[in-house]
Amino acid sequence: DSPMTVAEVAKLFKKETADVIKKLLFLGMMATINQEIDTDAIELLGGEYNIEVEVRAPRDEEAEDMLVEEEDPSILVNRPPVVTIMGHVDHGKTTLLDAIRETKVTATEAGGITQHIGAYQVEINNRKITFLDTPGHAAFTTMRARGAQVTDITILVVAADDGVMPQTVEAINHAKAANVPIIVAVNKIDKPDANLDRIKQELTEHGLVAEEWGGETIFVPISALKKQGIEELLEMILLVSEMAELRANPDGRPRGTIIEAQLDKARGPAATVLVQNGTLKVGDIVVAGMTYGRVRAMVNDRGRRVKEAGPSAPVEIIGLSDVPHAGDQFVVYDDERKARALTEKRSNKLRAAEMGAQTRVTLDDLYKQI
Ligand code: GTP
Ligand code: MG
Repeated sequence: DSPMTVAEVAKLFKKETADVIKKLLFLGMMATINQEIDTDAIELLGGEYNIEVEVRAPRDEEAEDMLVEEEDPSILVNRPPVVTIMGHVDHGKTTLLDAIRETKVTATEAGGITQHIGAYQVEINNRKITFLDTPGHAAFTTMRARGAQVTDITILVVAADDGVMPQTVEAINHAKAANVPIIVAVNKIDKPDANLDRIKQELTEHGLVAEEWGGETIFVPISALKKQGIEELLEMILLVSEMAELRANPDGRPRGTIIEAQLDKARGPAATVLVQNGTLKVGDIVVAGMTYGRVRAMVNDRGRRVKEAGPSAPVEIIGLSDVPHAGDQFVVYDDERKARALTEKRSNKLRAAEMGAQTRVTLDDLYKQI
């Protein structure tokens, strides 16, 4: 399941080493006896010798530590979509998030005070949508750098008076790379120089062709400032999410991603998490990156204490021993001792890697002196 030397492969295939080297040369690979060759090369060699090579996936330690289990598809249920908003500077992302929050969240709120936890849920026709309040780019880059994918749908905000700009294109590329569907919100249509068709035209050049022009992309004209088109946009999000068949098992092992975290003077490390599977409960033992802890309290996006949070719910948790990183994945462990052992193992690994880096630097310095 890992690279082998030419000699080892020869032994495994019961062939002369020289012959294996010759075959490798024939395949375009120059190799010596003790050189390691990868599984692709071993498979190719197997083909040459008519030997069936079965490459077993390497034992994925990370996956084991994260207690990854297959979910039975028949017990999965629909979950709310998780949406991020992207677009060029000043095109109206924050205004749109505020407009959605104000029209849908504060209206149902007693007193209208909404705690900021970096994500919130709105409800439309009894169905929920989760919005990540982080800048879309950060949500994509930091999250994906850590192997997490949190976004189900991207809202691409394009100002109707400005058009497609560099960060618009960047956003499209991020969403495409992550295979996330895009809904275009053409913003600022209240402006006199707004030109919806021009935006459609420009986006066509980036592979986003409007439905009414024979393509597959949904365009919704909005004014975030005047709160026009917001309901339509939310309905389109639900439509796209239905097609995406977003599912999770509320009874499965709770897991998800850290959206943001900071040290709170009074409460200690506080982390906003997105639950992606299972139902996170107060009292659960959580491992997140290099940290772990028992969930002491949870606060939802309305600032209310809750005892549990299901799939696609954003919630702030208190009780971790340290501040995790945005993008760290979390999983609930049954056993506190194992949770601690794992975080220690991870910290040791990191320390070793850092020491390795330092040693290399010293060696470089040494060579410089010679
Ligand atoms: P960055 O966070 O800097 O990237 O900007 P943003 O995309 O969050 O834009 P923001 O929401 O801050 O809006 C930028 C400016 O455009 C503000 O002055 C808004 O008031 C204005 N604006 C946003 N939406 C609309 C709209 O629908 N119509 C009009 N006329 N102005 C808008
Ligand atoms: Mg903004």
